[in-house]
Formats: sequence, structure tokens, C-alpha cells
Amino acid sequence: MPTARISARHLTIWTMAALFVAACSRGPQPGTAPAPSAAPSDAAAVRPFNPVHAREAARRSFPAGWRFDPGADATFAEKAMVVSVSKYASEAGVEILKAGGNAVDAAVATGFALAVTSPSNGNIGGGGFMTIRLADGRSATLDYREMAPAAATRDMYLGPDGKLTNKSTVGHLASGVPGSVAGMVEALSKYGTMPLARVMEPAIRMARDGFIADSNFTRGGNCSRLIAQFEGKNLFCPGGMAVPVGALFKQPDLARTLGAIAAQGPRAFYEGWIADSLVAEEKRGGGIITRSDLKNYKPEWRNPVIGNYRGYTLITMPPASSGGVTMNQTLNILENFAPLPPAGSAAYAHVMAEAMRRSFTDRNTKLGDPAFVKVPMAELTSKTYARTLAAQIDRSRASKTPAFNPGSEPEHTTHYSVVDAMGNAVGTTTTLNGGYGSGVWVRGGGFFMNNEMDDFAAAPGQPNMFGLVQGEVNAIQPGKRMLSAMSPTIVLDPAGKVLMVTGAAGGPTIITATMEVILNVIEHGMTLADAMRAPRLHHQALPDQLDYEQRGLAAEVVDSLKAMGHTVGTRGSLATVNSILRIAGGWHGVSEPRANGAAVGY
Ligand code: DON
Repeated sequence: MPTARISARHLTIWTMAALFVAACSRGPQPGTAPAPSAAPSDAAAVRPFNPVHAREAARRSFPAGWRFDPGADATFAEKAMVVSVSKYASEAGVEILKAGGNAVDAAVATGFALAVTSPSNGNIGGGGFMTIRLADGRSATLDYREMAPAAATRDMYLGPDGKLTNKSTVGHLASGVPGSVAGMVEALSKYGTMPLARVMEPAIRMARDGFIADSNFTRGGNCSRLIAQFEGKNLFCPGGMAVPVGALFKQPDLARTLGAIAAQGPRAFYEGWIADSLVAEEKRGGGIITRSDLKNYKPEWRNPVIGNYRGYTLITMPPASSGGVTMNQTLNILENFAPLPPAGSAAYAHVMAEAMRRSFTDRNTKLGDPAFVKVPMAELTSKTYARTLAAQIDRSRASKTPAFNPGSEPEHTTHYSVVDAMGNAVGTTTTLNGGYGSGVWVRGGGFFMNNEMDDFAAAPGQPNMFGLVQGEVNAIQPGKRMLSAMSPTIVLDPAGKVLMVTGAAGGPTIITATMEVILNVIEHGMTLADAMRAPRLHHQALPDQLDYEQRGLAAEVVDSLKAMGHTVGTRGSLATVNSILRIAGGWHGVSEPRANGAAVGY
């Protein structure tokens, strides 16, 4: 059956009702990822999908004037699906799935394609994280985060006056050693089934022959002041003008680079002529990445963070990302208030803010690269600790984020979700950090470099570009991975079957938005389309402020939150999420309604 848009009212309601009833009546599958010992056993507490309830939940949480209407359609696919910010990249993944590839093959194809068609966030000059759930029940997480170069120093971004400069965000010094190529090839060689050259074919084709610039491509501000400072301007700002929607856009240098990687593997990038071009570019602009930094780069397979919320299992990223720990810690706190107040109410926003405040306080002060700092993983993810934190929450008064003791995260990043017809699922988030990263475009190589060094606490106790105030645990050290918020997450239903693949872009809002979309489905019973369109909330401890999307909370709810003592702020939009949900008979896919992506399946 071809991809089709089917009315949520017809398909979602009945198929999801059937799915949840079936899911609740089946026993656990053998060999699935182990759930934590403190998992609640009351599967009865898990709310089965109820169409009337779903409509009501969405209606209540979409206040008058909100930018989206409830009841929108999702994209339906019977067998397999890819959801990303770029239609071309989703199609590249589906091309590989239809050719017999599995979800990992398709994820790698999508990742390389994003580097071509969505260069503000898709990349080979950045890094990422991948969460994999195989049909046989095994799960794995791959960390291909960038690393600080060997010559990096703790205070390298402080000026002579001791103040932070902008060098962690703009220009040659802002980049960590890129991990994307090594990571994607590592995932392919361990869990893929197709040759690298085959999965890279769509990306190479689109770089060489071009693609028609679409609204996702132009949304990234492809001729910004940032790009115009560096070599990418010749390609991205021809004649000083942005490439318009509808133009055929070719990237011959990038095609040659991708062709070399396809033919020779990651060595071409880390040791061959691409490494030479990258190091030469670094030298030209005062950067410090050397050939040996590139040669020494290794992706790391890590034990997934496996959490449990009211019978649902979350498989997600451990450090060097904070995503999995912080999301699970927040959910563990929230579980103490379950069933949660209705989405959209002041009581809900309050308990969400208080839970987020506590888990982000720990994130900002206790999480860092586990190769460099001791991370109290067991404590932070334990139900007991979450109960202690929950007990501190007053249901009617906002607390204050404790004074920060540094003591002892514009677009872009991008997340894509993939499921195949065999039952494998992959969530991947990859980033250059800011849109087009540091702005530096590698001459000859044809790609942008990241500005990921800004994810470190360049000056512990002072905010980074996402306003995150972080501690010494995330200070710069040579060879260290900067703490991330990227949270590619796979949710299993109470029977142990893949229910959702999701994740986001948006700096620290990645963690909260990913969690909110999951809660909208499993706690509030919304359809995926409504769960993605529902207004979002965000609190990251410091600044001590609950942010909501403009017109995303009713005026009386905002007044109640202020009366409880919350400082509230608005943002235009929070995060870019791309999600897939299993329904009876297939999958629903929804790309971020606030952006321009596409869910493609068959
Ligand atoms: O790893 C991180 O958490 C950040 N570098 C992510 C940056 C991001 O999501 C930017 N925008 N959409």
C-alpha cells in the first residue's frame, strides 16, 4: 500500500484502540530490553487508547488562538517509514528500505542525504547519537559526539579580560573533532546489511546531480551573515543572493567527498585527502584540529539508558548526552503525580516545570563525558531518588532553582526516525550545533564544520548560547566529549513492542519536547498528530523560568502559574521533533508541524 494521508478520525481511532487493547492483553516478549527493577507493575495504570478521550485531551490542551487545530492527519504506512526534516532525505531512506535494507541501512542513507539536502543541520562535519532497537529485542546506543581537539584548553574561549568571546560559536576555533562519518559507518558495519557505497548512493546522486531547493533548505537561512564570512558563500550565496526555492542546487565538492568515503570508508575522511583539506582549512583560520585528532577519533557503543514510565519502556541515550538521564529522571519524578493533571492546565504546567527544574539542576551540575567525570547514573535514574525529589514539590507553589555552584545549548540539529518491515527501529539525532555550525566551510571538502565546542561550559557558571548554565563537570578538556541534550528515544509498549521512535532538535528543549510528545501519547492518550501539534513547555533550571510557546497556554493558566510564583516566558516555538507511532496495521509518521519535513513510507 502506498503512503497515504488517511483521516485521523477514521484510521487512528479504531486502529489505535485495537493496538492498545491487543498490547495490553499480550504477555512480554522474550529477550526484550530489560526494564528497570523499580518499574511499576500496575499495567492497569496504563491508560488504553480511547478515541473520545484523545479528542478531549487534544481539545483541552490546544487553547483558543493556538497555531494548530486538533484532529489533523498523520502519514500512514503499512510496513516501513522514515520521518526527517527533509523530504529528500526521508525518500533516500525509503529507497534503501525498498531495496531490501533494514532500518539501520536506511538511517545511514538518511543521515548522509541530510548532509546534502539539509546542510544547516545534516552533516558530515558534526556528530550525533543513534538509538537502535532490533527486531530480536536487542538494543544499542552509539555515541558519535564530537571531541575537543588535543590542543583544547579549559579557558580557550576567554578573552584577555576574562570574559567569554564568541569563538566557541563562530569560526575555525569553534569545532570539535567531527564524529558523524565514523559513527554512521560504525552503525552500518555492526547492524546494517548493505554496502556503504549502496546506502550512500542517494546522497551522492543528490550532491552531484542536484536537488530542487525546497522550503526546508531555504528555512536554514542559506545565505546568512555567518556563511558569508567563510568559503561557503560562493556556493550558498551566488552573487550575494540566497539560493531560492525551486532552484536546482548542486554540490560538486561534497559529491567528490562523499564518493571518496563511499569508496574507501571513513579512512578517506579521517586520514586521506579529506583530512588534509579539513586540517588545511583549520590552519587557515586559526583552528586547532590536527591530523592526529582526526585519526584518533572513535565512536563509542554505550549501554542505553532504559527507563520505565507507567509500564512503558524508554530506550535512550546515556552520557555524553544528558538526554536519556534527564528525560528519565523527569518522568520518574512525574510518575509520583500520575495520573498527571490534564495537558494544558495550570496544574500540569506547574508539575512539569517543577520536575524539569529538578532534573535540569542535576543535569547542569552532575553530567559530563563519562570518560572524564564520574556520573552518578544509578542515583539519577533511580525511582527512589525521584521520589525524594517529588516529595519536595508543593502542588500549589513554585520553588526556586538553587543558587548555582559551578564548583567542584537558532537551529541546528536534526532528528530522524526509521522503522522497517522486519521490526527494527532506529532513532538518530545529529548536529552541527548552531545552524551551519561554525560557518566554516571546508574548501575542497564541500561541507560545514560544527560549533559544538559551545556545548561545553566554556566558562562554568556562565550561560552558553542556549542559556544553559553548567558546571565544572562539563568544562573543556582535551579529548573530552561536550555534554549534549540529544535524545533519540525508542518507546516500547507494556508488551515490549516498539511503540514510538522519536527525538528532536532544539538544544536543551530537545529533552523536554521529546518527553512531552511521548507523554501526550502514553499519558494523555492523544493521536500522534495531536501529540506533535500540542503546545510545548520548557524549564531548564536556569534561567529560573517556565517557557511556553506563544498562545500555547490559556491566559488564565498563565495567570495561575504566575500566582503560584513561576516566572513565565514565551518562545515562538519549542524544538523540532520527528516521530513515528505504531498503530494497528502499520505506522503513523509525523514530521515537525512547526518545520518543513516529511514522513515517507510504504
Ligand atoms: O548536542 C546538543 O545538545 C546541541 N548541540 C544541540 C543543538 C541544537 O539542537 C540546535 N538546534 N536546533
